[in-house]
Amino acid sequence: MDFLKLLSSRHSVRDFLPDAVPPEVLSEILEAGRIAPSSQNRQPWRYIVFRNRERIRELAQKTGLIGLSNFFIKEAPLVIIACAEMKKNLRVNKQDYYLVDTAISFHQMILCAHSHGLGTCWMAAFSQKTLAKYLEIPKSWRIVALSPFGYPKGEKKLYTKALSFFGGGGERLALEDIVIYKD
Ligand SMILES: Cc1cc2nc3c(=O)[nH]c(=O)nc-3n(C[C@H](O)[C@H](O)[C@H](O)COP(=O)(O)O)c2cc1C
Repeated sequence: MDFLKLLSSRHSVRDFLPDAVPPEVLSEILEAGRIAPSSQNRQPWRYIVFRNRERIRELAQKTGLIGLSNFFIKEAPLVIIACAEMKKNLRVNKQDYYLVDTAISFHQMILCAHSHGLGTCWMAAFSQKTLAKYLEIPKSWRIVALSPFGYPKGEKKLYTKALSFFGGGGERLALEDIVIYKD
C-alpha cells in the first residue's frame, strides 16, 4: 500500500472481532517496535503483551478509575502495554526523551498492525499507579500507553461512537495551520 494511504487510512478502532492475531503477525508488530530509532540509541521501551482473553478481561478492570472509559479493550484478542525504562532516559535541554522514544517505537507497532488489517487505539486514560501495581513492573518503569490490537468489527457501538467523539472526532488541522516556512 502507498505509505500516505496507509497513514491516512488508520483510525482508532474500539470495536473488535474475537479472532486471534496470528503469532507471526504479532512477531512482526513487536519487531517494528524493536527497530525504532531512539535518542542515543538508548531503546528505553519495554512491552508487556496480553494474549489471554481472561487476563485481558481482568486487565480492563485494572486500569483504574480514569480507565473506566476504556473498558472496550476487554473485547480485543491482544493488548500491548508500552512502558519505558526511565534509567535509559536521555535528558537534553531540560527535556526527557524516554516518552518520545517509546512513542516512536509504539507508533511503528501501531502502523505495522494497521498494514496487517488490524485495528488499534492509543490509550492514555489509565491510572499509572493502579496499573503499575497490577502489572508488578519495576519502580523505574513508566507506563506510556497501551493499545488493544484486533480485527475491526464493522459496526460501531453507540458507546464507542461517543468515545471517538469525545476523543476529538478525527478531523485534522490544515497544513497552513501547522507549518511555518522560513524560505
Ligand atoms: C497519546 C494518545 C492518547 C490517547 N488516549 C486515548 C484514550 O485514552 N482513550 C481513547 O478512546 N482514545 C484515545 N486516543 C485516541 C484519540 O482520541 C484519537 O487518536 C484521535 O481522536 C484521532 O482519531 P483517529 O485515531 O481515529 O485518527 C489517544 C490518542 C493518542 C495519540
